[in-house]
Amino acid sequence: MDAVHLHLLLNHVPVIGAVFGVLVLAAAVFRRNDEWLRVGLALFVVSAATAAVVYLTGEPVEEAVEHLAGISEPAIERHEDAALAATLALGVFGLAALASLVAFRGRRQPRWLGVTALALSLVPTALMGWTANLGGQIRHSEIRRAGADPAAATLIVRRAALGPLAAFAFLSPARGAAQERDHARDTATKGASRSGPEIPRSLREEHAELHARLVAATKAPGRVGESARAVAVLLHPHFVREEQIALPPLGLLRALADGHATADMSATLPLIDSLKAELPRMLTEHMTIGVAVQRLARDAKEARHVEAARLAEEIRLHALTEEEVLYPAAVLVGELVRARSHRWTRR
Ligand SMILES: [Fe+2]
Ligand SMILES: [Fe+2]
Repeated sequence: MDAVHLHLLLNHVPVIGAVFGVLVLAAAVFRRNDEWLRVGLALFVVSAATAAVVYLTGEPVEEAVEHLAGISEPAIERHEDAALAATLALGVFGLAALASLVAFRGRRQPRWLGVTALALSLVPTALMGWTANLGGQIRHSEIRRAGADPAAATLIVRRAALGPLAAFAFLSPARGAAQERDHARDTATKGASRSGPEIPRSLREEHAELHARLVAATKAPGRVGESARAVAVLLHPHFVREEQIALPPLGLLRALADGHATADMSATLPLIDSLKAELPRMLTEHMTIGVAVQRLARDAKEARHVEAARLAEEIRLHALTEEEVLYPAAVLVGELVRARSHRWTRR
C-alpha cells in the first residue's frame, strides 16, 4: 500500500474520531463520568495521530489527481490550507489530551478539565469538518450542472471508499485478465439482444480497441502488467454499463441534427433516466480509473514500455472526452427527445 492509498483509506478517521470525541466528552461532562472523559480524550489522541498521517500523505494524492478530468486545482489548494490549520489544531489538542491522560493517570480528573476539554475540542472538530467539506468540492463537472445528482459533490469522500478496491486490484493479477475476458462476453451478449438505438460505430470501435490494447498490456511482465490488470478490473464494469446506457442515445444524434425525430425515439428515455441517476457513480469510477491509469503511466514510463504509456494517455483522454462531450451530449439527446415526445403524445 502506497501513500495515495493510505491517505484515501484514513482520511475519514480524524473527522469521525473528533465528532465521536466531542460526543463522548459531552456525555462525560453531563454524567460526571471519569472513564468516559478518559475515552473522549483518548479518541482525540488517536484522531490527532491519524490526522498527521493523512496530512503528510496528502501531497502524493494531489500529484496523482491534479491532472485528472474534472479536478479543481484551486479547490485542492483550499482543502490543503484548511487541512494544515485543522491538523495543527487537532495536533495541539491531541497532545494536551495525552498530557492530561498521563498527568491524571490513576486518579480522578477534576470537573473543570472535562468542561475545558469539551469547549476546546469544538475548535479542531469544526476545522476538520470544514476541511472535509472543502475536500468534497475538489471534484467538479459540467455534467453535474446539466442535471445530475448534487450528491456527486461528495466524490472525494466516495473515492476514499473506492481506493481500497484499486489497491485490491493490484494484489490480484488473475482478476484483471478474467474481467477483461468477461467484457468481451458481456458486450457481445448485450449487442445481440439489445433493442433501441445503436452505439455509433466510431465509439464502439474505440471501446473495442482500448480493450484489445489493455488485454495485451495485462500480459506485460512485472509492474506494467500488474498496473494494466488493475486498470482492467476497474474499467470492465464501467465500459459495460456505459455501453448499456450512456453510448446508445448518441446513436440518435445524427438523425436529430438532421431534423428527423421519430416517435420510436422515446424508447431511449429510460436509458437517459438511468444515465442521469448513475452519472455521479460513473464519474466517481472515472476518478478511480484515473488513479489506476496514472499508476500504469508511471510504471510504463519507468519500464520504457511505450505502448502501455500511450494506452494510459489514451484512456485518460477517452474519459475526459466522455466527461466534457459524450455524457452531456447523451443527456441533451434525452432532453430533446423528451421535448419532442410531448408533441407526439398530443397528436
Ligand atoms: Fe468509455
Ligand atoms: Fe467512461
